[in-house]
Parts: sequence; C-alpha cells; structure tokens
Amino acid sequence: MNMKATLEEIRDRAKEELSKANAIETIEELRVKYAGKKGELTAILKQMGKLSPEERPVIGQLANDVRGYIENAIDSKKKELAEEKLKKQLEEEKIDVTLPSDVSPIGHKHPLSIVLDEIKEIFVGMGFEIVEGPEVEYDYYNFEALNIPKDHPARDTQDTFYITDNIVLRTQTSPVQVRVMEKKKPPIRIISPGRVFRSDAVDATHSPLFHQIEGLVVDKDITFADLKGTLETFIKRLYGEDSVVRFRPHHFPFTEPSAEVDVQCFSCKGKGCRVCKNEGWIEILGCGMVHPKVLENCGIDPEEYSGFALGLGLERVAMRRYGVDDMRLFFENDTRFLSQF
Ligand code: DAH
Repeated sequence: MNMKATLEEIRDRAKEELSKANAIETIEELRVKYAGKKGELTAILKQMGKLSPEERPVIGQLANDVRGYIENAIDSKKKELAEEKLKKQLEEEKIDVTLPSDVSPIGHKHPLSIVLDEIKEIFVGMGFEIVEGPEVEYDYYNFEALNIPKDHPARDTQDTFYITDNIVLRTQTSPVQVRVMEKKKPPIRIISPGRVFRSDAVDATHSPLFHQIEGLVVDKDITFADLKGTLETFIKRLYGEDSVVRFRPHHFPFTEPSAEVDVQCFSCKGKGCRVCKNEGWIEILGCGMVHPKVLENCGIDPEEYSGFALGLGLERVAMRRYGVDDMRLFFENDTRFLSQF
C-alpha cells in the first residue's frame, strides 16, 4: 500500500473509532494508539526516509495534516464528553427551589423568662438597674449581714443547703442587697433576679430550686410612701390598672417595718374562689423599710439614708399569670407544656 493511502486509512479509522468513543479513558487510549510516540503515525513517519525526494514533502505535509486532524478530533471529542458529563451532573443534582422546605420546630422563651422579662421591663421603666449576685454565697451575706445571726429563729424557716460552715447555696436574693450597698453609694435603685435554693421536698408549690426578684432603693428621705407608690405602680403594670393592692403587717429580720403585699384575686374580684383558695386575696411579695442595722452593716449611715426592699417569687407570679397549678411543670421541660406559651 502506498503511504498516502495508508495515512488516509489511518485518518478514517481514527475518525470512526473516535466517533464511537464515549469515555475520556478510551479517547486517551486512541491518542496513544495513533499520535503517541509508538503510535501508528509515528511509525509511518519513520519510513519517510525510503521515499523519493519529490514524494517526501507531499507525504510529510499529508502526515502533518492527518496528525493535526486526529489531535483536533481528540480535543473536541474530549470537550464534548466533558460538557456532556457536566450537563448530566447538573441534571442529576438539580434542586427544585420551589419545593416546600422541612420546617424544624424553633424553640421559644420559657414561661418563667417571659414573666421575668416583663417584670424587668417594668422596673427598668421606673429607673431601676439590674444586677446579679452569686448563687453560692457566704453565710455572712445570706444571713448575718441581713440581721439574721446564727441563733436567729428565721434561719429555721429557710432550710439551707450548706456547702461548708460558712458557705451556703443562697436561700434568697436578699444577699445581693448587701453586696450592692457595700460597693455603691446611694442613690441606689436596683432589682436582682436569680436562682435560690432551699432544701424543700418537691410538691406542687415547693421546689429546691426556684427564682426570686429582689428590689432595693436607698437614698435620702425614702419613706414607706415611696415603697407603696412603687409597688402599686409595679403591680398595676403587671396585673392591670384595675388591680387592688393591700399591705399586711409582717416580719422580716432585715426590714422594719415589714409588710406582705396581696393583690385582690383577679379571678373572683375578692369574692373567694379556687384560684385564691377562697381568701379573695393573693399574696404577691414581701417588703419593708431597710433595717437600720443592715444599712450600718453595709457602711451606710442610717441617720442620713433610708431605703426600702422587696422580694418576690417568680414562679408564683408565673403560676398566677398562666393559671398553672403545679410548679414542677416549669422545671420538667416537657415540650407539651412549654409549647403552650
Ligand atoms: N428574702 C425574703 C424571703 O426569701 C423575701 C423578702 C422579704 C425580701 C422582704 C425583701 C424584703 O427584700 O424586704 O422570704
């Protein structure tokens, strides 16, 4: 066979085989087979020496054309396959953005947080600052400085978790009063929400962990009228403008005089019902004028300054607000309960 015919035959065969190839690897094999160092074209070119000087440039030109043709064909076939592959991939990985999404449930605030935020907002609106104190507290701050010495009967009413002889889990948020007064000169106007601990057996109205909100105002000429005004405003904002408030004499070691504050039952308007246990009134908080001894313990001169304090239980407020009659529900984190708020 003459070389021209051989070259043309190689070109046609390469074209035919390439058209059937459908994988990048196959194309690579074809490239080696035809245009590689040991390929058919190279083998032909090695025989050029046998040609006559007239034939040599003609066949040389043709051989180059065939090589160029094959290489081009290989390149475009490769491109074509790559494009096909990409197209297929895009097709397979197509995302239908119009499909409805899976809705994962989103959490929300705990009922205690909802009520606490509301209470904070009311006090902040009246110019109070929010401060926090430690949950593990010295006996001194939790009791001693608050006018509750070691032998004081009031200690019995607050079943205390002792860590050591003089370190306790705070039984009330009142120690924050002392910490604030030690550090800051009057005027003082703070509330301090937080966890408190008592070694109580768990039932519908008792838990070893619950929350209180402490309030403290100290300045010149603070009187019981300021206490009454502040608390009435607070309770009306919390329970509605038509709430009726009552102060009852009480005793706390760290206030003198002391009082407990009741709000007329909003369920029966004072007639007596299940919510108020037929009393007509619901106890909301404890309060009083800061005892001169407590001021003195904190380095504040009771001749120059006076103040009032208050303490309220967050769970109680939340229970009444939402008609929850078992405090344990707040701590069990059962989503069937929590999702209702
Ligand atoms: N610390 C008291 C308690 O846990 C509550 C309380 C009563 C706080 C009167 C006060 C207050 O600041 O003035 O029972």
